[in-house]
Amino acid sequence: MPPRPAELRCGRHIRQDDGVAKHPGETPTERQRRVWDKVAPAYDRQMDFVERLLGRGDREWIGERATGRVLEVAVGTGRSLPFYVAATSLTGVDLSPEMLALARSKADARGLPVDLREGDAQALPVEDAAYDTVVCSLSLCTIPDPAAAIAEMRRVLVPGGRLLLLDHVASTWPPVYAVQWLVERISIRVAGEHYTRRSLPLVAAGGFEIVESRRHKAGSMELVHAVKGG
Ligand SMILES: C[S@@+](CC[C@H](N)C(=O)[O-])C[C@H]1O[C@@H](n2cnc3c(N)ncnc32)[C@H](O)[C@@H]1O
Repeated sequence: MPPRPAELRCGRHIRQDDGVAKHPGETPTERQRRVWDKVAPAYDRQMDFVERLLGRGDREWIGERATGRVLEVAVGTGRSLPFYVAATSLTGVDLSPEMLALARSKADARGLPVDLREGDAQALPVEDAAYDTVVCSLSLCTIPDPAAAIAEMRRVLVPGGRLLLLDHVASTWPPVYAVQWLVERISIRVAGEHYTRRSLPLVAAGGFEIVESRRHKAGSMELVHAVKGG
């Protein structure tokens, strides 16, 4: 086991050496909101770099398939918003007000009409059967209860509606998997970030029919297209 990060008293909070204040008694979801509010100002810069390494095409893959009334769960800073070329309306939900504020300015700057709402993926602030497509990218790795989030995505889809997912998942190549497992020992504790999760089995177990899925980067990136079964 790696050593525990040093803790420093800071007012009524405990600060860990990752710089994120740890509030005693906060729920995993409250912790996620705090972590992502803190990450928000640097997120786009970091992701520009990460997405250059991963290569282009994943957001385009999702964007081409997202039709009709589209809901993006955990929309973050709105990096995928420009790709929804076939959407008739766009809604984005995220836990973090700071991430949402960046999504809002991006959408305004591009003149994209989008309804952005603060909310929890595990209890979406959305009516039943209100969307034709639900998208979630790079977020089931960090949402505390991904099965609950997938159940919510199913609830808000019309029958036959489309679920489109993109995430980093457990690699099929053992050396990469070993690194992911090691990184996760720290990342889960520091930021609730998982590297060896896989959403495809949860999607299949959650009442969806898998239409297509693909993996790349040693199986560590996964795209899923599923439909809500009856
Ligand atoms: C890695 S970012 C991904 C953002 C965006 N989907 C993208 O592709 O760039 C993870 C996002 O998940 C959000 N998030 C984490 N837990 C959540 C929850 N329970 N409900 C809604 N959003 C959540 C965070 O606030 C953050 O914006």
